[in-house]
Amino acid sequence: MLDQLNDLYSQALDELERVADRQALETWRVRYLGKKSSLTGVLRSLARLPLEERREAGARANQIKGSLESSLEEKEKLLQEAFLVSPGVSQRLDVTLPGRPLPVGGLHPVTQMLEEICGVFGNMGFQTIEGPDVEWDYYNFEALNIPQHHPARDRFATLWIDAGEGAKARLLRTHTSPMQIRLMEKERPPIRVVAPGRVYRYEATDAIHESMFYHVEGLAVDRNITLADLKGTLFEFCRCLFGEDRRVRFRCDYFPFVEPGVEVAVGCTACDGLGCRLCGHGGWLETAGAGMVHPDVLARVGIDPEVYSGFAFGVGVERIAMLRHGIDDIRLFYSNDLRFLRQF
Ligand code: PHE
Repeated sequence: MLDQLNDLYSQALDELERVADRQALETWRVRYLGKKSSLTGVLRSLARLPLEERREAGARANQIKGSLESSLEEKEKLLQEAFLVSPGVSQRLDVTLPGRPLPVGGLHPVTQMLEEICGVFGNMGFQTIEGPDVEWDYYNFEALNIPQHHPARDRFATLWIDAGEGAKARLLRTHTSPMQIRLMEKERPPIRVVAPGRVYRYEATDAIHESMFYHVEGLAVDRNITLADLKGTLFEFCRCLFGEDRRVRFRCDYFPFVEPGVEVAVGCTACDGLGCRLCGHGGWLETAGAGMVHPDVLARVGIDPEVYSGFAFGVGVERIAMLRHGIDDIRLFYSNDLRFLRQF
């Protein structure tokens, strides 16, 4: 039995030596290692041998099997290498060429900023909601205490979709504050939401003005909400985005839908408050309008202003991104210049 095995082994190796292509290799594999090969036959017939002989022959047969299997693998590798450098193939295919890089995109800097801003408010318990860019006059103005002919309309140079009749006219929202109304029409306090989205103004563009930009609206309504809550929330927000040391300024401002109204400005990061193009040489950049929700606004959506109070704010997203990265022209965000965009 052992002699028979050894003969088989050397015959297999001899033949493998002469194998020159993949097809021949497969034939060889079937003959020497396949289910019907003599080696498999020997392994099967072992059971009939007396114990002593079985042990010896079994060990040898398994050894041969393992050795033939690794010889097969080696031969496969050799054939593969030979194939790649064979004249027919190597003329068409240069295996030493580096691979073609796949272009990998990234999130737009404004998208990254939006995600970060909503994340900071999310950590403070604010949910994120979204609403339409095309808005009714009612939500954008009327319900926010800005009726027809109110002078505050001049502050929002509006892009109209159709003139319509009064509150039924449609426009591109000039701010995200209509989301305050849309939300309070449906939800009762306690309310804590942020509403990111595009807003539009019919304005000439310059280094700090675009006709389309992003706002993140914030709204909190509950019992006993005060201006101190608003201040704490926005200071914490500025601290998270700009660090402990950045100066933050709170001043009175006027918006018809809040009382009192405030303006939040951050010390310019580009010039450290000395004055430059980014801050209009004033050292400060206005980043948010805010205030306590006007009692008339609460009453209009059926929330009792005697019981509940709230604060609202609107954050300018590009302004924050500009402060963050020291960018001195808002138009860079929307000019599709890859040299600019790739930096983020
Ligand atoms: N919507 C205001 C603006 O566009 C900002 C604001 C939001 C002010 C909420 C007060 C409260 O300027």
